Parts: sequence; C-alpha cells; structure tokens
Amino acid sequence: MSRSRKRPEGAAVSNRTGLVLHFVRGSAFLFLLSIFCSMMVTLLQLYIPRVIEEAVDSLESGGNLVASALLIVVLALGAVLFRYGRISFNEQAAQTMMKAMRDELHARILHLPLSWHQQNATGDIMQRCTNDTDRINEFVSHQLTDVFRIAILIAVSFFHMFQMNLRLSFIAAAAIPVVVGYSLFFHVRIGKRFLVCDEEEGLLSTIAQENLTGIRVVHAFGRERYEQERFGRQNERYTDSWIDLMKLLALFWGCGDLLSGIQVMLIIVFGSVFCVNGTLTPGQFIAFLSYNSMMVWPVRSLGRIISEMSKAGVSIDRIGYILNAPDEEAAFAKESRAAAKPDSALTEEEIAELMRGDIRFEHVSFRFDDTPVLSDVSFTIPGGSTFGILGATGSGKSTLMLLLDRLYELSEESGSIRISGKDIRDIPLPALRKQIGIVLQEPFLFSRTIGENISITRSSLTSEEIRRASDIAALEDTIDSFSSGYDTVVGERGVTLSGGQKQRTAIARMLTQNAPLMVFDDSLSAVDAETDVRIREALKSRLSDATVILISHRVTTLMEADQILVMEQGRVAELGSPAQLYRKNGIYRRVCDLQLSAGEVDHESE
Ligand SMILES: Nc1ncnc2c1ncn2[C@@H]1O[C@H](COP(=O)(O)OP(=O)(O)OP(=O)(O)O)[C@@H](O)[C@H]1O
Ligand SMILES: [Mg+2]
Repeated sequence: MSRSRKRPEGAAVSNRTGLVLHFVRGSAFLFLLSIFCSMMVTLLQLYIPRVIEEAVDSLESGGNLVASALLIVVLALGAVLFRYGRISFNEQAAQTMMKAMRDELHARILHLPLSWHQQNATGDIMQRCTNDTDRINEFVSHQLTDVFRIAILIAVSFFHMFQMNLRLSFIAAAAIPVVVGYSLFFHVRIGKRFLVCDEEEGLLSTIAQENLTGIRVVHAFGRERYEQERFGRQNERYTDSWIDLMKLLALFWGCGDLLSGIQVMLIIVFGSVFCVNGTLTPGQFIAFLSYNSMMVWPVRSLGRIISEMSKAGVSIDRIGYILNAPDEEAAFAKESRAAAKPDSALTEEEIAELMRGDIRFEHVSFRFDDTPVLSDVSFTIPGGSTFGILGATGSGKSTLMLLLDRLYELSEESGSIRISGKDIRDIPLPALRKQIGIVLQEPFLFSRTIGENISITRSSLTSEEIRRASDIAALEDTIDSFSSGYDTVVGERGVTLSGGQKQRTAIARMLTQNAPLMVFDDSLSAVDAETDVRIREALKSRLSDATVILISHRVTTLMEADQILVMEQGRVAELGSPAQLYRKNGIYRRVCDLQLSAGEVDHESE
C-alpha cells in the first residue's frame, strides 16, 4: 500500500502546507475516498428529518407511515455502509501516511552529520518522531477531513432550515459565530495546558529513562532515595498539570452545554410561537429541531479544529526541522567546495589502492563552536606503517581521527588531509569510510548477538572470516566460554560484557571490514597488558601491509610503532621514532619514565 516517496535532493519543503501535502500525497486517494464516504453519511442522515417532517404532517391526511419508516431504515443502512467506508479508508490513509513519515524521518536521521546529533538531544528527537507525528496524523486524518463533513452538514442543514422558516433559521445561525468563538477561546487555552502536560511528561520520562540507563550509578552511589524523591516531585507536577487541564475542560463542556441549551430554548420558544400562528407546521418544527441538534457538536468542534491547526503547525515545524536539516554530503558541501563534487570517477579498487599510501595532515585547524581544538597540525603517516599517537586527555587525538573518517568536516580554509596526495574531501564519503576501519574510543554494541555485532560491516561475511577476526582480537577464548558462543545476546549497549570484552568485540567487528587503513582509538585501554601484546602481535603478523594508527595512553602499546606523534593542546609537540623521542628528553620521555621501570625501556638498543 505504501510507496516510499523520496524527496529530491536539496528540494527541502520548508512551508507547512508543502510539508503536509508532501506527506499526504501517498495516501491522498484514500483520504479522498474517506471524505467522500463521510459526506455521503452526512447527506443521508440529513435527509431523515425531511422524511419525518413529511410523515408527521401527512398524519392528518392519512399518509403512508410504513413507507416513511422503511425509507428511514434504508437511509440509515446506507449511512452505515458509508460510515464503514469512511472509517476504514481513513484508517488506511492515516496508517500509510504515518508509515511514510516514520520511514522518511528515520532515513533522514541516519544521514544527518555527527555534529547535528551532538547538538540535538536523543529524547527530543524521539519526541519529534512520536508525539509530533501523532499530532500531525490526528489533525490530517480527523480534523482536516472533518472540515468537509462539517461544511456540508452546516450548508445542507441551513438549506433545509431556511426552506422551512427564515426567521427561525436566522436565530439558529446567530448562535454559530458565538459558539465557534467561545470554543476557539477555550481551545487555545486548553492547547496551552496540553503543552504543559506534554512538557511535564517529557521531563518525567527523562528522569525515568536516565535512572534506568544509569541504574549502576544509582546503586553504586546509593542514590535510590534521592532519585525517587526527584521522580516524586516531577510526578506531582505532571499530575497537577493534568488536574489543571481537566478543570478547564470541565468548565468548557459545562459552559458549552449552557450556550447550546440557550440556543435550543430560543428555537423552542420562537418555534412554538410560529407553530401557533401557523407559519410553521408541527412536522417542520420537529425537523427543524433535528437539524439544529445535528449541528451542535460539529459547530462546537470547529473551534477545536482551529486551535488544533496551530498545534499541528508547531508539530509540522518540529518535523521540518529534522527533514530540512542538510544531510552529511550537503552539510559538508557547505564546508568545502570539493565535497560538492567528489570524484565519482574513482572505482572502489582505485580508492582501496589510494588508501594504502601516505596520509598527510596539512595545516589542519579545527574548532568546536568557539573552542579551538586543533591548531595548525601537520604530519605524515607513511603508508603501511604503524603510527602511534600519544597525548594528554583533550589534546585532540580522537578529533584527528574523526576528521580523517570525515565524521567531522574540515572547512576549505582549515587545512587538508590527503591520502596518496588525494584530498579526502574529493573521495566519495561512503567509499572513504569503507576503506577506513575505525574502533571508536567508546565502542557501541547493539543489543543483538555477538556474532551479529561483529558481522554488521558486511552482509556476506562467512563464519570463517568472523572467527579469524575474533582470533586476532583475542576474543575466541571469551566466546568459547559463553554457552551460546557467537549467539550470545549482549544486552542493551553490550552491558552483559566486560569493558575489555566489549572493546575486543569492537576490534573484531572492525577487522572484518578488511580495510587497508585501521584506527584504534584507545581501543586496548580496557584489556590487560598481556592481551594488549597478543592483539598487537596478531595484527602485525597477519595484517602486515595495512596502515595502523594506534592511539593510546599506555606507552607499551606504542613502543613498537614505527613513529609516534605526541599531541599537546591541539598542537604537534613531538614526532619521531620511539627511540628518537626517548632521546629527545621531552613529553614522551617523561611519560615513559613515569609508566615504566628502567628495565622495561629498551629504546637504547635501537
Ligand atoms: N562534540 C564536541 N563538542 C565540543 N567540544 C568537543 C566535542 N568533542 C570534543 N570536544 C573537545 O575537543 C577537545 C579534544 O577532544 P578529543 O576527544 O579529540 O581529545 P582526546 O585527545 O581524544 O582525549 P582523550 O585522550 O581523553 O580521548 C577536548 O577539549 C574536548 O572537550
Ligand atoms: Mg580521545
């Protein structure tokens, strides 16, 4: 039923109507069918009072009541059929539209740059994808389609009413703007209180979600009571906001009933007078009252529709914020001229070959907002070598690697990164990332099996390849110790694994990528020194032609590297072989002396 409707690149729909039309397009036919059925229900129902009128007025002349009763049953049956059509077409249309919205939002979110994700809280994005899509759906599938029904209901009712009695019709009509205005007045306020309830609910679920994900911290620091009190206070605010809302709703319904009652009373009083003076027949009077009562609810809901429209408008803007955010390629194209036209003539093999060459950082500078993180960094990593990076926390090591993988983009004037002389901004993004295996500093595991976690890099991985990668990552023994082996489910974010097991799973996962360039960002920090050596030796002997970049705070991890770069406050402090740096008596030497006992330092032998 649903069709995936991809928006053309760059054709962001920025206005509200455009965005609604964009979503409705895929299910427009179903919505039209639903509106048609809804109008038919209304027309059939609106005919019934006329039949009653004729039946009542023909009583004296001995009219055929059975025929009138049968006609009413036929009209009611027709209305039942069309009502079924209205509900089922409307539901199909609404679900189709919701599916399209969810698909498009999810696809978009996956393609937005890392920097966008860092600026937007997960909870907020989730709320836009659930509450806001629900609100748009509610508005389009109920209120918007209802407008047509209400319009026809009012028009046809008044058509009949004016035919029956002009003056009485004016009395009935005079009430409409009053009721709509009153309803709008209340619904604007009701909408605001709903918003407060929504916000309080958001805060409440944030507390609950944080306590659930941080349950270890809560237990470890004995924070159960504090967190419970915090939750309790927020829970009270949430409850109060609902009570406030309900009080306002009660007032709205009560006063609304009073207004409708006054209007009906006026019609009964004047209708009776007109009946007595003969300008209205009893049948017409009954029919008139029926038409009037049929309009009460729809007219009252007009005010609601107007106020819901403004709420839906806000939701559309909130979704537009995600859908119109530039995806990685587009966002990066803004940063640099080259990303706008990556060299698509390069084949995958050519790119793989390129990646075996020297990697050159040339005058790279980078800042997060106003905070400079890297300043004029230049160095070269020879292709096929093992390159170590050392430096205090916050000195910019991870940022260098995120720039290399283009998770952050360098602007045109902030230097360049070249591999085999080619600017990485000229290499198509997916192809570049395919050739760089990176184990991030905080590896993320999905709550799937270990086997699935390792094999996400390619769908065609054989179990032999998975085993080989696990073997290099020194993970085989661990997996053998699990009763379900590779089928062991690792729990949310890998909580059922130890820190070191998680790191090694992430390493094995990266190795299955078979990339010619591999980055280990502090990826051996949680494994013991012996396993650290084992993994590095396995890497060296089995993947000898790859370029390996090792970031570590542990000098033993870096000591066998061909070259080491020492970073300090976003600048290159030292660069050279471990032996050269040791002789230099700088930062590297100090770190060595701090971390190692004299016997462990074998640089002098080089
Ligand atoms: N998303 C971000 N927004 C703002 N500042 C950031 C962001 N990511 C990193 N930084 C800042 O950039 C600087 C460098 O961070 P980076 O992660 O590169 O350091 P690092 O050398 O890898 O440190 P560590 O050894 O602790 O991993 C730090 O001062 C950090 O606060
Ligand atoms: Mg880091």
